[in-house]
Amino acid sequence: MNKINLGLIGYGVVGSGLVKLLAKRKSYIKNKFNAEFVLKTLCDRSIEAKNPQGLLGTALTTKYQDILDDPQIHIVIELIGGMNPAREIVRGALSKGKHVVTANKELIANNGIELFQLAKEKKCRLYYESSVGAGVPVIKTITEGLAGNKFSSIYGIINGTCNFILSEMTQNNVSFNQALEEAQKRGFAESDPSLDVNGIDSVHKLAILTYLAFGKAINVKDIYREGITHISHDDIEYATSLNLAIKLLAIAKKEEKKIEARVHPTLISKDHPLASINSIYNAVYIKADPLGNILLSGEGAGQMSAASGVVSDLINFVASGQDATLACNIYSEATGLELQPIDQVNTKFYLRFMVIDKPGVLSIITGILGKNNIGINSVTQRAHNRMAAVPVIMLTDYTSGHMLRLALDEINQLQVVKSKPVAIRMEKLW
Ligand code: HSE
Repeated sequence: MNKINLGLIGYGVVGSGLVKLLAKRKSYIKNKFNAEFVLKTLCDRSIEAKNPQGLLGTALTTKYQDILDDPQIHIVIELIGGMNPAREIVRGALSKGKHVVTANKELIANNGIELFQLAKEKKCRLYYESSVGAGVPVIKTITEGLAGNKFSSIYGIINGTCNFILSEMTQNNVSFNQALEEAQKRGFAESDPSLDVNGIDSVHKLAILTYLAFGKAINVKDIYREGITHISHDDIEYATSLNLAIKLLAIAKKEEKKIEARVHPTLISKDHPLASINSIYNAVYIKADPLGNILLSGEGAGQMSAASGVVSDLINFVASGQDATLACNIYSEATGLELQPIDQVNTKFYLRFMVIDKPGVLSIITGILGKNNIGINSVTQRAHNRMAAVPVIMLTDYTSGHMLRLALDEINQLQVVKSKPVAIRMEKLW
């Protein structure tokens, strides 16, 4: 029997789920892999308050150094999230020749290369399946399942909290705050939910995917980001009537030597499979050559989903032999790929203007758009009310972020425009 001692750091939502799942899978792992995972030490800074039950033989500590210093621990599982002290923990564990499993997207997004190199030097393995899509095997699919493919684009719904909020607002007319509260109650949201709703969590995950799929390490600060806090019920309703759905998409595209990486609310056709990915489901829609389009989807947030990814990492460790370094730790940076600034990225746009309802207003707005070379595909005025502002919805043709900004800055100055114009990018996914 192959006994593998684990040191688990972080006994929060995911850590406690992991302990439950390991207990459930114990006999399966023994029978199938002739291996046993022994939770030798559990570390959490509030371990007393959390008072874990049923962990016979597991040492409890508040000091992660106890785990790093224990020569009998083979694998360190880091589930505290954030940069500090997670980076010290993962570096410390690898430096001491321990394998590491982490679900920490922020850490891998910011310091992945450094950590992959350290793991390689120390002949250790670093697993991070739960960092993107939690238990949905996005990392393994890209790095192993599609190893013979070349990628041209990835469209991801990779934040369960945002997808839950947008779905609740769309389907159940629930307010943004109510939906967020529910996501927090159910344990999907980050402890600081602004990381979710401002798109930061998606940026971290996109940085990892961009690196794995295209070999391009992009500084997270250089990834264009818009969150979902400005999305209103009105825009959801207008979009629905135009047969469109609003999703927070993380998009990476490569065309020759140019690469795009951006996170923003996006309008997509309701007929596209991504439009029907709702609630806390995550999905990645990948264009690969020669395979074509692939959609991978599942519950991408929550306690047992993340625990599932961590247990898969542990089993992969056992199943693939402890001496090898993991192939997917060894990446080479693609040369010459240049990140496109968002101002140069061309998309179609959904625009909403709140304007005074009087003759000539539309022609002033379309005139400014035309002057900036922005074509209009459709115009809808949603209501007539000579006393108050009325919404005018326009769908544009392809234009750059730069030209749109110039036009909107000018339109925003008009007396007849009563609130800041809303602009949401549109994507044609097939
Ligand atoms: N807060 C994250 C989400 C958890 O909502 O997707 C999974 O990374």
